[in-house]
Order: sequence, then C-alpha cells, then structure tokens
Amino acid sequence: MFQAEETRKLDRFIQLLLANATVFVSGEKLAEPLNVSRMTICNWVHRLREQGMVIEIKPKTGYRLTQVPDLLLPQLIKRELRTKVLGKSLYHYFQVGSTNDVAHQLAQQGVAEGALIMAEQQTHGRGRLGRDWYSEKSVGIYLSLILRPDLKPRHASIINLAAAVALSQAIENTCALTTDIRWPNDVLVNNKKCSGILTEMSADLDQIKYMVVGIGINVNHPSFPKSLEGRASSLFLEGGRRFSRIEIILALLRFFEDLYFQLQEQGSDEVLKQWIRRSSFARGKEVSVDLGDKKIHGTTMGLGKEGTLRVKLRSGLIEDVMSGDVVIWERANDRPRG
Ligand code: BTN
Repeated sequence: MFQAEETRKLDRFIQLLLANATVFVSGEKLAEPLNVSRMTICNWVHRLREQGMVIEIKPKTGYRLTQVPDLLLPQLIKRELRTKVLGKSLYHYFQVGSTNDVAHQLAQQGVAEGALIMAEQQTHGRGRLGRDWYSEKSVGIYLSLILRPDLKPRHASIINLAAAVALSQAIENTCALTTDIRWPNDVLVNNKKCSGILTEMSADLDQIKYMVVGIGINVNHPSFPKSLEGRASSLFLEGGRRFSRIEIILALLRFFEDLYFQLQEQGSDEVLKQWIRRSSFARGKEVSVDLGDKKIHGTTMGLGKEGTLRVKLRSGLIEDVMSGDVVIWERANDRPRG
C-alpha cells in the first residue's frame, strides 16, 4: 500500500510521465524534482506497471508512459474541473481502509473545505447502519468530501439529501439512465441500488465542525458477491455499457456544489423540492421502515423541514422518520394479506 506522502509524490510522478508521454525521460530527470532517488523511481515504475499503467523501460535512456489505465488520477480530474470549492484539493489512493476514515484524519488536521479523497479500492468500506460497502478495485467510485458548512447540526441531514439529488443528477446526465432515490440517499436504477452515501460529522452542540460525505457508486462492476445479488447492481449492469468514472465524478462535484451553495444562501427549500421531484418514495408509497428497535408500515407523505420522511401509519398517526431502512411494503414479508 502507498502511504500518504508517498502517494502525493507518486501523483506528481505520474503527472511528469503524462506531461512527457511521447518521449523517454531519464530516471535522473524524474527523480530530481521529486527529491527521491533513481531507485525509488525504478520501484514506482514497477508498482505502477502492476496497477495497469503501460510504461516502457529503455535501459540507459529512461521511461515512457504509453497507456493510461482507467484510474482516478488527480491530474486527469483537475484539468476538467469547473467547481469553485469542491475538489479543489484532491487526494488519490490506490488502496485505503475507508476514504471516510482518511477524510476524518485530514479534516482533523485542518484540511480546507472541499477536499476530495478518492480510492481505487477500499479494504474496509463502510455503509450506513454499520454495514460494509463492497469496494472492488477500480470499477467503482469510492470518494469522500470534506465540508465545513455554517449550519446547526440538526440541519446536517439536508446535506445528505442534497448529495443524493446531485448523485441522481450526475448519473442521469452522464449515463443517460433514469434514477430513483430511496430515502434518505440510496440512488437506484431499475429499482436496484447502484450507489449509497454515508455522511458523518463532528459537531459541537450548536455548530458543525466538519462533515464527511462519503459516496460509493457501483459503476463498472461486472458482478457482485452472492450475498449482494438481487440487492446491489451497477451502472454497467443496468445500462449495458461501461461508463467513465471521471465524468461521473466531475458531474457530481458540479451538481453538488450548486446545491450546496444554494442551500447555504437560500435555505433548504430547493433541495427538499428537488429531492421530492426525483424520488418515487417521497409521496404515496407504501413502505416498511426498520427503525432498529421497531418496524413501522405506512404510506409516505413527503419530507419534514429537516429532511425527515413523513409516514402515515394505518392508525392515522404521522411518524417523522429520522433514520432507518426503507423498503417497499409489497416486498416486505410481513405485508398483511387480504
Ligand atoms: C450506504 O450504506 O448506502 C452508504 C455507502 C457509502 C459508501 C462510501 S464508499 C466511499 C466512502 N467510504 C466509506 O467507507 N464509505 C463511503
């Protein structure tokens, strides 16, 4: 595994290779600006070749990059990035435990708002409600954003909904697929979950210190382990072709930034409106919600001001759900018959 400092140098190394893609560059020339030895350059070349990069080696002459693999390289993202804040600093890792964990560490060290942490693979990807997130190498998007919104902690869930709206917009725009959002933030294609969001925060009683918005998108996964079959899918499986991970990320950052600015300037109305417009779960859906300690059944009645899901129970009572697992009632085993 590449360590943080080494990863950053390695990214600069790749940048140098990209900038000189048509010519052979000597190990010495590559080593000097990075302040590393020629031996380190030689080791990096071998490691990058293992990752799928095609780098020619010519003894006594140097190295030449001839083929760039489908990696989320910061230098490829940077040149297309049109945002003001989101993604302004980029961290790319080949393998991490969880990008959310890396983001927490960076946020605690004071890294500025908008930092984007991406990994090709996660060994301990985390999902909502204590679940794991399947993070196969280089076929999915595993990223975390550090935000420092000027918001009270009780408004944090709106950011969560904004991220889901942006994700749905990004997938529809870049992949031409129709999406649905299952409360609070699962983005579905053909009723199958293709992405999820895990938002975490550090806060005082009345102020958010920082938030980490972790987003996982199953992009080009050709299949899933047995345990996930029927529940998870990928854009590739639903759309019938492979998609560019970088294009999806660029669109996601653009849409999310627009909503994020709007949210802070004008409040949550627009985010709530857009979420409702994009979700078949917003109104009139018969659902079963697992709240952890109990399960409720009822019909959805829109969102509360803070992004809660309003569910009308059979008794007529309206429950405002703050956190839980939502499934369509018909699919639940406990649907009353007759
Ligand atoms: C869910 O359960 O639906 C949320 C899944 C969130 C997964 C992403 S992948 C990037 C980031 N790092 C993690 O460990 N989790 C989130």
